[in-house]
Amino acid sequence: MIDDLSTGSPENLKQAAASGRLTLHTGKVSDLNILKMAAEGVDLIFHLAAAVGVELVVKSPIRTIETNLRETESILELASEKNIPILITSTSEVYGKSSNEVFRETDDLIIGPPTLGRWSYACSKLMDEFLTLAFVKERGLQAIIVRLFNTVGPRQTGRFGMALPRFIQSALKNDPIRIFGNGRQSRCFCFVDDTVESLIRLVDSEKTWGEIFNIGSEHEVTIQELAELVIQELGSQSTLTFVPYENAYGSGFEDMKRRRPSVEKLLEFTGFHPQTTLREIIQKTAESWK
Ligand SMILES: NC(=O)c1ccc[n+]([C@@H]2O[C@H](COP(=O)([O-])OP(=O)(O)OC[C@H]3O[C@@H](n4cnc5c(N)ncnc54)[C@H](O)[C@@H]3O)[C@@H](O)[C@H]2O)c1
Repeated sequence: MIDDLSTGSPENLKQAAASGRLTLHTGKVSDLNILKMAAEGVDLIFHLAAAVGVELVVKSPIRTIETNLRETESILELASEKNIPILITSTSEVYGKSSNEVFRETDDLIIGPPTLGRWSYACSKLMDEFLTLAFVKERGLQAIIVRLFNTVGPRQTGRFGMALPRFIQSALKNDPIRIFGNGRQSRCFCFVDDTVESLIRLVDSEKTWGEIFNIGSEHEVTIQELAELVIQELGSQSTLTFVPYENAYGSGFEDMKRRRPSVEKLLEFTGFHPQTTLREIIQKTAESWK
């Protein structure tokens, strides 16, 4: 595994490291020495390294764009040169401002203007998708692209703007829960174990290569409902505080009203789709912070 530990934490890898089945190469994916060393004897690559989190994306657009383009380009070159199949993680953000009720892999994508920094994440991930498919077409690379929708679970950090870990940590301390915007924006939260199961089933199938798949929960909840459920599930005394977007992310910030995946294709190709309930997700995630 390669990780530069820029947003990831070695603490989270303790259990895997103790099993003796994980070797961590600390550094950037684009460092060719590290990349070649880590790729020795590898028969499959999962590429997850990226600049993530709305807060980080808005504050550091150069880092976001460079990381998401350069690292993916490096790993695609290596996978193609060494003939190693690869799964690339993209994001539901690529659907942008689409007003569709449900997002399908074949949909048109409606991205905001370059003057609004948040779209740099969607665009850089979308370029990753184009580049991956170009390698598939021109160099015969075996690759799968997945678009992840809000993936959450134990030990996830809230430092870079993710809502659920921040809400749970505030609720456990009975601190006010800060909601950005009016709380009526909705999302679908997928448990990380379901995402992992989906990824494994996708690479285990023969028919999935060269394809794009949504991975996410279909259960839609507004951010206010999410905060209220966290308070209820954890028996917390927290109250809700609404923070205007411009105070959180600066002026001109755009958010999507809703974002719900169709996982029909995932189900059709793998026989699986994420189903862990939000209550279970909250309990399991909170457990990791107690
Ligand atoms: N969690 C979500 O809701 C979500 C949603 C959509 C897409 N994704 C995608 O899934 C992938 C994993 O995201 P995550 O939520 O687990 O975030 P994460 O921050 O836990 O994982 C990203 C990892 O990449 C590492 N990293 C960053 N830049 C690197 C570089 N140049 N070289 C090596 N390592 C580097 C970070 O230290 C971190 O451990 C990302 O590609 C992200 O875009 C996640």
